[in-house]
Amino acid sequence: MTSNNSAVHKAVIPVAGLGTRFLPVTKAMPKEMLPVVDKPAIQYVVEEAVNVGLNDVLMITGRNKRALEDHFDRVPALEATLAEKGDTSKLQSVQSTSNLGDIHYVRQGDPKGLGHAVLRAKQHVGYEPFAVLLGDDLIDARDELLSTMIEVQAKTGGSVVALIEVEPEQISSYGCADIIHNGEDGYVRIKELVEKPAPEDAPSNLALIGRYVLHPAVFDVLEKTEPGRGGEIQLTDALQVLAAGQGEGYGVYGVIFRGRRYDTGDKLSYLKACVELACDSEDLGPGLRAWLPGFAASLDK
Ligand code: G1P
Repeated sequence: MTSNNSAVHKAVIPVAGLGTRFLPVTKAMPKEMLPVVDKPAIQYVVEEAVNVGLNDVLMITGRNKRALEDHFDRVPALEATLAEKGDTSKLQSVQSTSNLGDIHYVRQGDPKGLGHAVLRAKQHVGYEPFAVLLGDDLIDARDELLSTMIEVQAKTGGSVVALIEVEPEQISSYGCADIIHNGEDGYVRIKELVEKPAPEDAPSNLALIGRYVLHPAVFDVLEKTEPGRGGEIQLTDALQVLAAGQGEGYGVYGVIFRGRRYDTGDKLSYLKACVELACDSEDLGPGLRAWLPGFAASLDK
């Protein structure tokens, strides 16, 4: 765990989604527990938070998510067996997840959207800036994003979103940001945010990805936010109010991310993410890399 001198100490991870895109896999298990190479997807996200010093992690959970709580809990019987066998590397891998940060859980109750999930964190977070990490986006541990966003939050006193450039036809899968270059290095000011616009209505090709560092003023706005796209309370709509208004905690800024991001939100992206990350894995990478070119060549025949 890293020590943390910034004002941001807490990470909120919404995990109440039903994972319908992965059915039937997700009929009885949470999508966040799908393995990405050799760890469940959620473990990458919690590690990312803890690596920047966000040791207080709140998961907004729901039904059928028990496996998540178990994954980050101790398993004394398994640990004792591994210790008896002297299998220290497996023992360490089992203990590494139960030693990761201080993890709390609150249920979302009604599935009313991402904005509603974030609002469920209000009591735990209190009046301090906090991070939100969405599990469908994995950010490569070698690339900086969250730490930069935390710095921009401290500098601006507002809320900070993460942006990537996408092909114009892909923008309807994301929140979209219209920006003003403010002459400062490393971040932009957000003029307008629109949730999943049609390509012809999109103000830009800058898409929101699942990392946010938010001023707690967002909670008051979320309480008044009416259901938007898809009949859900949208975080993007609350951030649009903060972007357009003035007052303490208002103002939204964007960090444009050009590093490695893996989307695990649908079956095909998930498969690609697994292959890319496995190629970079220390133990599995060499074998997979040696096998892949021949396999790829056989596909052309
Ligand atoms: C959510 C947000 C969207 C954002 C996306 C990033 O959508 O509402 O603005 O672009 O996460 O992953 P979801 O993918 O949960 O539908």
